[in-house]
Amino acid sequence: MSDVVRVGLLGGGTVGTAVIRLLHEHADEIALRAGCRVEVARVAVRDPSKRREVPLPPDRFTDDPQLVVDDPDVDVVCELMGGVEPARTLLLAALAAGKPVVTANKELVATRGRELFDLAAAKGVDLYFEAAVGGGIPLIRPLKESLAGERVRRVLGIVNGTTNYILTRMTEDQMDFDDALGQAQRLGFVEADPTADVGGHDAAAKCAIIASIAFDANVIPADVYTEGIERVAIDDIEYAARLGYVVKLLAIAELDGDAIAARVHPAMVPDSHPLAAVRGSFNAVFVEGDKAGELMFYGRGAGGDPTAAAVVGDLATVARHLHSGGRGPVFTRIIERAVRPIEDNDDQFYLRLQVVDRPGVLAEIAAVLGRNDVSIRSVWQEGAGEDAQLVFVTHRAHERGFRAAVRELEVLPVVEEVRSILRVEGEE
Ligand SMILES: NC(=O)c1ccc[n+]([C@@H]2O[C@H](COP(=O)([O-])OP(=O)(O)OC[C@H]3O[C@@H](n4cnc5c(N)ncnc54)[C@H](OP(=O)(O)O)[C@@H]3O)[C@@H](O)[C@H]2O)c1
Repeated sequence: MSDVVRVGLLGGGTVGTAVIRLLHEHADEIALRAGCRVEVARVAVRDPSKRREVPLPPDRFTDDPQLVVDDPDVDVVCELMGGVEPARTLLLAALAAGKPVVTANKELVATRGRELFDLAAAKGVDLYFEAAVGGGIPLIRPLKESLAGERVRRVLGIVNGTTNYILTRMTEDQMDFDDALGQAQRLGFVEADPTADVGGHDAAAKCAIIASIAFDANVIPADVYTEGIERVAIDDIEYAARLGYVVKLLAIAELDGDAIAARVHPAMVPDSHPLAAVRGSFNAVFVEGDKAGELMFYGRGAGGDPTAAAVVGDLATVARHLHSGGRGPVFTRIIERAVRPIEDNDDQFYLRLQVVDRPGVLAEIAAVLGRNDVSIRSVWQEGAGEDAQLVFVTHRAHERGFRAAVRELEVLPVVEEVRSILRVEGEE
């Protein structure tokens, strides 16, 4: 192999341009660590005439990504364009031609990863995707390689910076959801269509990847129970604070016997838990293992430069393998595991009810909860008259029983409205 490994980039946007700059600025350190120089040979973009702040001559840009994949001067294909197609077809073509692949595309890895992993293994080439989860935070390699001797039981994380930013503004500045979303949009933290972020779907794709890697399984986003933050009310954030909790959008992947439970939903986290201190657009992932105990990975989960740092780390590893031999981990040896439905989960719940203000109401509600095996840990009344509310936190209860209780409460004459429900996570 020559002393230069040449990269073909598919995409030269926020992350792609940061990758080009980083490969240029840190070229000597990267060469030292990879054992060879790593250079950008070609870049595919939609509009090659667009001005981009990169140290690369304009003739390296093309609007034909297939040309980049097929170019005999390209040793490694690095996909930073996003979306499932045409990225999937292009990467399958690269792997089929025996070219290693690096990608940051969480949507593609989460939904079609298996196809890519199988082809990479069959062809004996590397496939790396560190930046697909947690942007600049190293997580895939620690889970897959550093913790190869460990049995990971649970991964609990804040993996979407946009929703964490919105919840932080609601908590610290008493903004309501719409105002906090508006501010995040003005600051450029939100995609043009915010649904994937606020609806929890971006976090669900990352949760599926984390569960697949942590538990040697094949988990896809459709296996992940998903609730977004659209219905989190400022009142709930204030009640949570009074009770000593912070509201976060969590991605949780757990092993229960041989089955996996994977879910994304807003949750109240004790303010003493390390995840409670993760503010603004930062991400953090908390890993619980049999022997290593509790580990936390914290940092910037998005942004051009942090994400580029993870992508270039993958490129340097692939370049080292091409230059000096060796191969990265394969992801094809999986264990067939059932996915446990959310209804079979045990959790603590926070429940806020608008009620009729008269004696005996609490007893009627407590009876409904008790009948469904939901025991109350704490309760208090807020307001009076037409604005009377009862706020409950339960002990751990079966989700199915709790849901049955809520259905009964919805038609109980003394309950005017079930205002909100949140799960409580991270308690000892
Ligand atoms: N941004 C982040 O913070 C972040 C963090 C972690 C992971 N990621 C992932 O990284 C990937 C890239 O994200 P990004 O933020 O850099 O996106 P972006 O700024 O929208 O850039 C996308 C790039 O791909 C090019 N492109 C798109 N479709 C193409 C096509 N059909 N043919 C040729 N070129 C095409 C675009 O060309 P033009 O420039 O001409 O439009 C652009 O250069 C995504 O998978 C994303 O999920 C991003």
